[in-house]
Amino acid sequence: NRRITVRDIAAAKRRGERWPMLTAYDAMTASVFDEAGIPVMLVGDSMGNTALGYDSTVPVTLEQMTMLSAAVVRGTSRALIVGDLPFGSFQEGPGQALRSATHLVKEAGVGAVKLEGGERSADQIRLLVESGIPVMAHVGLTPQSVHAYGGHPVQGRGEEAAAQLLRDAKAVQDAGAFAVVLELVTAELAAEVTRSLYIPTVGIGSGPECDAQVLVWTDMAGMTEWPGGRLPRFVKQYGQLRTALGDAARAFADDVVGGAYPAEEHSFH
Ligand code: KIV
Ligand code: NA
Repeated sequence: NRRITVRDIAAAKRRGERWPMLTAYDAMTASVFDEAGIPVMLVGDSMGNTALGYDSTVPVTLEQMTMLSAAVVRGTSRALIVGDLPFGSFQEGPGQALRSATHLVKEAGVGAVKLEGGERSADQIRLLVESGIPVMAHVGLTPQSVHAYGGHPVQGRGEEAAAQLLRDAKAVQDAGAFAVVLELVTAELAAEVTRSLYIPTVGIGSGPECDAQVLVWTDMAGMTEWPGGRLPRFVKQYGQLRTALGDAARAFADDVVGGAYPAEEHSFH
């Protein structure tokens, strides 16, 4: 029972097979997804929002990424675990990217790393891949640039933007990435990119034609709280964990206050 590898991912594209990816940030949740047969898990820097309580991914450090990635690796035995390179850990150049990726691979045991950027990150991707570290690329909306965007705009609208996105996707493929996340790209353009590449595209908010789909697990399971209750258009909730967990906590609290817990069967004599 070995782990999924990047070779399996390449074979899936050749066979035209679609696959799911979920984020994970802790050992216990990751073990649930591993048992459910999720083949690839991303320890995303979305942990900044979901696990660490920041309002963006920008503050996340390599040490935080390493600690939570190690937990996800320990909690799983089947899935390929991909660790995000956080903001500031690869932008200086290929040397810095290799030091950061090496740290994540050695200290956390991830099987691959992910980093944001197309043409602008191609040199980093190339050195990592040459050094034996599989790289998942990430183009379209790249949340580490939130301050430059001033929001979360849909990507690839208009001829010039579409041409740039295609160049970005080709650049990361040429640099040796084994897959590429397309975030918030129009469905039409994501389909064109997917047809144009021999590596798989992993869509989030990028329509149905991508080879794979990823969601932040707390969004997927109905754990995330959305301002005003309005979820983004691309999110589908496959559970209502926020309600279920809140109900459990309230029931526990009621039992303690009312004296119903612990009962005789929970007590030692
Ligand atoms: O950090 C993250 O969760 C991600 C995915 C949404 C692709 O980068
Ligand atoms: Na990320």
